Amino acid sequence: MKVAVLGYGTVGKGVYEMVRSAPGLECGPVLVLPHECTEPFMVTDIEDIVSDGSVDAVVEAMGGVEPAASFAEKVIRSGKHFVTSNKAMVAEKGIELADLAREKGKAFLFSAACGGGVPILHNLSVAVKSDRITGIRGILNGTTNYILDAMQSEGMGFDEALARAKALGYAEADPSADLSGMDSFRKILLACAVAYGRQPSSAKDVEGIYEFTAKDAQVINGRGGAVRLIASGGLNENGSVYAFVEPVIFFDGMEKSVRKNFNCVSYTGERAGLITLFGQGAGRYPTASAVLRDLTGIMDGTLEMMPHGCVRTEERNLPQRRYLVRCDSDMASRFSATEEWHREADTVWIITDLVPAEEMHDKVRSIRKEGRNVFFASVE
Ligand SMILES: NC(=O)c1ccc[n+]([C@@H]2O[C@H](COP(=O)([O-])OP(=O)(O)OC[C@H]3O[C@@H](n4cnc5c(N)ncnc54)[C@H](OP(=O)(O)O)[C@@H]3O)[C@@H](O)[C@H]2O)c1
Repeated sequence: MKVAVLGYGTVGKGVYEMVRSAPGLECGPVLVLPHECTEPFMVTDIEDIVSDGSVDAVVEAMGGVEPAASFAEKVIRSGKHFVTSNKAMVAEKGIELADLAREKGKAFLFSAACGGGVPILHNLSVAVKSDRITGIRGILNGTTNYILDAMQSEGMGFDEALARAKALGYAEADPSADLSGMDSFRKILLACAVAYGRQPSSAKDVEGIYEFTAKDAQVINGRGGAVRLIASGGLNENGSVYAFVEPVIFFDGMEKSVRKNFNCVSYTGERAGLITLFGQGAGRYPTASAVLRDLTGIMDGTLEMMPHGCVRTEERNLPQRRYLVRCDSDMASRFSATEEWHREADTVWIITDLVPAEEMHDKVRSIRKEGRNVFFASVE
C-alpha cells in the first residue's frame, strides 16, 4: 500500500520514516509548504497527491481544522484511504468525513488523535463490537501532567514548571489548548464518539490547570492527595452521553502514580470490567506508531472507527462529585461546604457536598466573571 503524507513536522517525519521500513507499505509523496520543499519526494500542491493513481492511502499530520479538512475531503473523494493524527480536525469535521469515507468504501481512521501512542481509540472501537462501555476516563494530556507533577513532587511554581515543560519539548510555544483543558476535551469527545456514536459538543464543562498554585499543591499534598487533570466521558442510565474535564484529587489508585508526561486512560466494559492503558501520549514515534497501527489495520480490512450514525449532542447530564474549592473566605458561603481543609489570611480551602459537576462548572464560571479567583478539583 503506497502512503502519501501531508505535513513533515514532528509526526509526519516519524510516519514517513516508519512507513519506509514497514512490511507491505511504501512511501509516496509528502506535502510540504513551499519554504520546506527541499527533497525530491516532496510536493507543494495537494492536487499532485489527489491525482496520483499510485497512492492508496494518505496520512494527514499538518494540524488545524483548515485546510486539513478540505484536503481530507478531496483525498477521500479521489478514492484513497485517509488516516489522521489531528484531533482538532476530527472533533470538528470527523463525523462528516467518516460518512463520506463509508460512502466511498474507504478508510477514515484517527487512532493517533487521542492518546498518541496509547491505543485507546483502537481498543474502544474493537471493544464496542462485543461489550457496552459504561465509562471512559483518564489523563490524556502529557503537558499538563508534567506541570502538575513538577509542582507537586518538586515544589515548583506554575510558571517555572511550564518553562521546564517547554524546554523539554513537552509544551508547545502556545500551550493554551493544553492548559485550558481543551486538548483533553477534544480527545475525550472523540473517545465518546467511538464508544457511543454520540459526540458531546458543549465545551462548558472544561476546567484546566491555570488556577492551580504551589500553595494548592502544598495543601493537597499535606492531606496525602495528588491532583491530575482528568477527562471523563460516559453513558447515563437514560442513554445520554456526557464529557467533561477537570482537575481531580486522588489519594490512591493508578492515576496518582502517573508521573511526568505520561498518559493513563481507563474504560469500563459492562462485561470486561475496568481496562487501563498507560504510555506515551505524544512524541514523534509513539504518535507515528498509532498512525502505523491504522495503516496496517487498513491492510487487514479495518475501515472505520467512527460508528455509522454518529451524531453531535449538547447534553450536559454530568455525574455528582464532591469538590475541593479554594476561594476568598467571603465567597465560601456560595458553596455548600462540609469541611474546611485549610485557612490562610483571607483564603479558605473547603470541601463541598456532592454536587452535579455541571453546577460546579457554571458556578465557578459566574464567580470568575466577577473578577474573583477560584480553584476547584473534584475529590476522588
Ligand atoms: N506532536 C505530537 O506528539 C502529537 C501527538 C498526537 C497528535 N498530534 C497531532 O498531529 C498533528 C501534527 O502535529 P505535529 O506535532 O507533527 O505538528 P508540527 O511539528 O507543527 O508539524 C506540522 C507540519 O505541517 C506543516 N504544514 C502546516 N500546514 C501545511 C500545509 N497546508 N501544507 C503542508 N504542510 C503544512 C507545518 O509547516 P510549518 O511549521 O511551516 O507551519 C509543519 O511542518 C497535529 O494535529 C497534532 O495535534 C501531535
